[in-house]
This record gives sequence, structure tokens and C-alpha cells, in this order.
Amino acid sequence: MEKVAFLGLGAMGYPMAGHLARRFPTLVWNRTFAKALRHQEEFGSEAVPLERVAEARVVFTCLPTTREVYEVAEALYPYLREGTYWVDATSGEPEASRRLAERLREKGVTYLDAPVSGGTSGAEAGTLTVMVGAPRRRWSGCGPFSPTPRRWSTWGPWGRGTR
Ligand SMILES: NC(=O)c1ccc[n+]([C@@H]2O[C@H](COP(=O)([O-])OP(=O)(O)OC[C@H]3O[C@@H](n4cnc5c(N)ncnc54)[C@H](OP(=O)(O)O)[C@@H]3O)[C@@H](O)[C@H]2O)c1
Repeated sequence: MEKVAFLGLGAMGYPMAGHLARRFPTLVWNRTFAKALRHQEEFGSEAVPLERVAEARVVFTCLPTTREVYEVAEALYPYLREGTYWVDATSGEPEASRRLAERLREKGVTYLDAPVSGGTSGAEAGTLTVMVGAPRRRWSGCGPFSPTPRRWSTWGPWGRGTR
């Protein structure tokens, strides 16, 4: 089965990655790596160094702002493979998201800004709504890999998910 990866195991990301790990082989990475190891223990995910994240077909991020996502994307950039989806659940900024989408497109990676609503209780319960800022035809390939068992919803072109 295809792997997914989750970067940023904070209050939101930790339980979201847990839902993914129940359904798919899931690689996890976190700046404070002890959290990734704890996640591995709790959910059966696999804690990996950043470069191994590139093995995943769908890479999820949930970091404080688009700036941190950009930094992580730059560190991962040499390893990224064409055909990968990058689903960014960060509540980011539309303009920065568009820049990041362009940067990743040069590598053949499809970036989706996909902020979530529902809070930490929704992340734990698996009831978040994911607001994807991209036309459906661009993200249907990663549709089965939702970070919430509930639903995805689409909000138009890139950058619209964050508005
Ligand atoms: N909390 C909510 O109720 C809620 C609801 C909806 C949307 N959101 C949005 O979801 C996103 C994440 O929120 P959160 O509440 O999960 O935040 P959080 O608990 O503060 O977690 C932040 C995560 O980002 C990582 N991080 C921070 N700076 C980093 C850097 N420079 N490089 C790499 N990783 C870095 C942290 O790693 P460490 O473990 O190493 O610190 C942690 O995994 C935000 O955009 C927020 O606006 C939050």
C-alpha cells in the first residue's frame, strides 16, 4: 500500500496523524523527534528522519505558519519525487501558499493548501473539515488519504483554502 507522511505532531497534527496511521502505512517526522517516537509507539506509525518522508505518496504538514512549511519544504526539496502530493493543513497565508505551490510544482509535486476547522477535539475525534484550496481534479488522486475520516471540501483555486 502507498505510504503517507505527516510532519508536525503538535496539538492538531498528532491526532490527525494517528487517524492516518490507523488506515495507511504512515511515516511521521517532528522537529522535537521524541514526539515522533511517542507517536510510533502509540499508533504504529514509523518515526523517520526528514529525508525519508520523500518515500510517501502524500505528505501532510500541520505547522504554525506557511513560513515553517516553506523551511521544511526547502530541507526536503532535494529528495522530493515527481507525483507526490503535499497537503498543508497549516492555517497559512494565501500569498505564501501560492509561492510554495509554485516552488513545489517545479519538482512535479502538487501542493494543496488544506487548513482544517474543528479544533483539537475535532482532530482527536476525527471530525475535522478539510478546506482544500485547489480544483477537485487536482487533488482527487489523494482523496482517499484524508487526515480525517469525515470529509474533504473544496474551496476553489490555490490559496482559497486559507481564506
Ligand atoms: N489548535 C487548534 O485548535 C487549531 C485549530 C485549527 C487550526 N489550527 C492550525 O493548525 C496549525 C497547527 O496548530 P497546532 O495547534 O497543532 O500547533 P502546535 O501544537 O503549536 O504545534 C506546532 C507544530 O509545529 C512544529 N514546529 C514549530 N516550529 C517549527 C519549525 N520551525 N520547524 C519545524 N517544525 C516546527 C512543532 O514542533 P515541536 O514539537 O518541535 O515544537 C509542532 O509539531 C496552525 O496553523 C494552527 O493555526 C489549530
